[in-house]
Amino acid sequence: MTHPARPHWLRRPDRAAAGLAYGADYNPEQWPREVWRDDVRLMREAGVDIVSLGIFSWARLQPAEDTWRFDWLDEIMGLLHEHGIAVDLATATASPPPWLTSKHPEILPVNARGETIWPGGRQHWRPTSPVFRRYALHLVETLAGRYADHPALAAWHVSNELGCHNVYDYSDDAARAFRDWLRARYSTIAALNEAWGTAFWSQEYGDWAQVLPPRLAATHPNPGQQLDFKRFSSDALREHLRAERDILRRYTPDVPVTTNFMVMGGTKGMDFAAWAADVDFVANDHYSEPGPQARDELSFSANLTGNIAGGRPWFLMEHATSAVNWQPVNVAKKPGELARDSLTHVAHGADAVCFFQWRQSAAGAEKYHSAMLPHAGADSDVFRSVARLGATLRELAPVAGATREPAPAAVLFHWDSWWAAEADSHPTDRLRYRQEALDWYTAFLNLGIRADVVPLGTPLDGYRLVVAPILHVVSEPVAKTLQGYVESGGHLVTTYFSGIVDERDHVWLGGHPGALRDLLGIRVEEFAPLLDTETVTLDNGLRAVLWSERVRVTDQDAAVLARYADGEQAGHPAITRRAVGGGSAAYVSTRLGAAGLTAVLGGLAAAAELESDLPPAVRGKVESAVRRQEGARFAFLINRSEQPVTVAGVPGEPLVGSRGPDGAVTLEPRGVAVLRQT
Ligand code: GLA
Ligand code: GLA
Repeated sequence: MTHPARPHWLRRPDRAAAGLAYGADYNPEQWPREVWRDDVRLMREAGVDIVSLGIFSWARLQPAEDTWRFDWLDEIMGLLHEHGIAVDLATATASPPPWLTSKHPEILPVNARGETIWPGGRQHWRPTSPVFRRYALHLVETLAGRYADHPALAAWHVSNELGCHNVYDYSDDAARAFRDWLRARYSTIAALNEAWGTAFWSQEYGDWAQVLPPRLAATHPNPGQQLDFKRFSSDALREHLRAERDILRRYTPDVPVTTNFMVMGGTKGMDFAAWAADVDFVANDHYSEPGPQARDELSFSANLTGNIAGGRPWFLMEHATSAVNWQPVNVAKKPGELARDSLTHVAHGADAVCFFQWRQSAAGAEKYHSAMLPHAGADSDVFRSVARLGATLRELAPVAGATREPAPAAVLFHWDSWWAAEADSHPTDRLRYRQEALDWYTAFLNLGIRADVVPLGTPLDGYRLVVAPILHVVSEPVAKTLQGYVESGGHLVTTYFSGIVDERDHVWLGGHPGALRDLLGIRVEEFAPLLDTETVTLDNGLRAVLWSERVRVTDQDAAVLARYADGEQAGHPAITRRAVGGGSAAYVSTRLGAAGLTAVLGGLAAAAELESDLPPAVRGKVESAVRRQEGARFAFLINRSEQPVTVAGVPGEPLVGSRGPDGAVTLEPRGVAVLRQT
């Protein structure tokens, strides 16, 4: 079944020699055949060597239940192969065709209010619909059978951005699947009642059949039910991923299977750290939202993706050459941003750089979304930047296959804590988990200290300092892990609203933060969140918002690093640090924002003897990231600022960038240099 010339992504033994992959989603069905030849020619000109094909092609491939059309796909696969362009072939199940939803409207999702999500957009399918599953798997099987031996086939792309629009479905199918999921988790209805705390508000269930998704309710639905529904919904999509993958593996055991994750901004519904085990290589999509931290957020997401991939190379499946079309105002990228964004992903482990999409659509909902080949055509700044990036990626061929070099510090990321901490009926609804985590990451960048963003569960022993922002859900084993980390010399930093509940969302009793109280050597009796109009000042001059609380120090080894200077908590501790052998456990009881955290983290890092590996003059201006493989270390230097920055004293041969007469590397505004160090 195998083809000798098959260009496997990542599994191909000569992958490293082949360099970094470059390409896009390619949607030839939007264009007449005459355009296709032009496409492949320009792809070659830009250095494109892989495209994702067929993502939204279901209606074209199967125009009616018993009608299949592969001629066009055969032709384009052949044409791409002739031109040396490999195919990441989608299973085409992302958007069900009209004939299917007309015949089986019962596959359409239902929202919490009981409203049907109609066709007209995309991804209008219930993750748990057995009918949808049957049709989708039939399509997968048909495609897998037909293209198993195609020489262009490099990887399989399951569906597309699973859960982007359909993660929460409240239909009867979802109710049935949710019950099965709960039965597997709790075994008995009594255990479910206990976990959900149903003694409250007369919610005790007598039978599984009475259990429903958290549909529109008179007031706050049960928090345990809400948290489990989030976990279930992520798992339900994962199960769909596995079902498609299993068919693909049966037909082509040697072709890797992936799906594009969405580790970015506000995409909250899918626990991609858990999903990573289900794909042969991790792929991610990333789109920035404008704002002062847009660049740092991109780095944060790329970093987390790299660590979800276990430090191994991953595939940047989509990002934008310039503007997107789905934000309130869609900002075009500035000169240099396209390359800087792409290379930031490479710095954090991406071995493929791809865009949505190859040719900008003339019609449809995404016609104003940028592409590699814009409406203006090849005679355009975007296409010239695209072609230049293609050339840069070729210069970076030696990086292919290199793993991430672990940083000396880490920021912990935990989907359960994100979900639980932002639930309703809490002390404040203004808390933003990911923003707090990002602010800590920005603080590391401001100090020029490399930090990994790692999912909870990653071994911590290699890290000198670990920040666990709003680690709200702390089970007993997690509490023990953190304690063990500190006792063996690690420096832990955590924040307000951490360690408050266990995995069932039950409060740890006896004073907050229950699960971490002894480790931190503090005790809090009551939260005192701040109104939007309130700020408080600490005695180190920092301004705090969102949260405060009356912290009491209970352990003689816990020192007060800062106190509240005004407001209700005036004179009481705001930041503490307990020494534990060679390690420590620090606590920040309020929200300080990126600038405030930079000051606080500076002190905590110094106390932990954690230092920047950048020359003092460029700390904060330059982000550094490192990849390595046998015999080589690749240092990426990324200009975070809008001014040129000169970096002196960093060794290595430039693969990207150059040294001036004085030996220093000058980074243009938004510029990137890559130095090969041996
Ligand atoms: C997602 C999808 C693409 C496209 C882009 C636009 O990432 O996967 O099909 O819609 O968004 O930003
Ligand atoms: C009302 C209800 C109580 C409780 C409070 C919460 O007063 O009667 O059961 O829910 O609201 O503020």
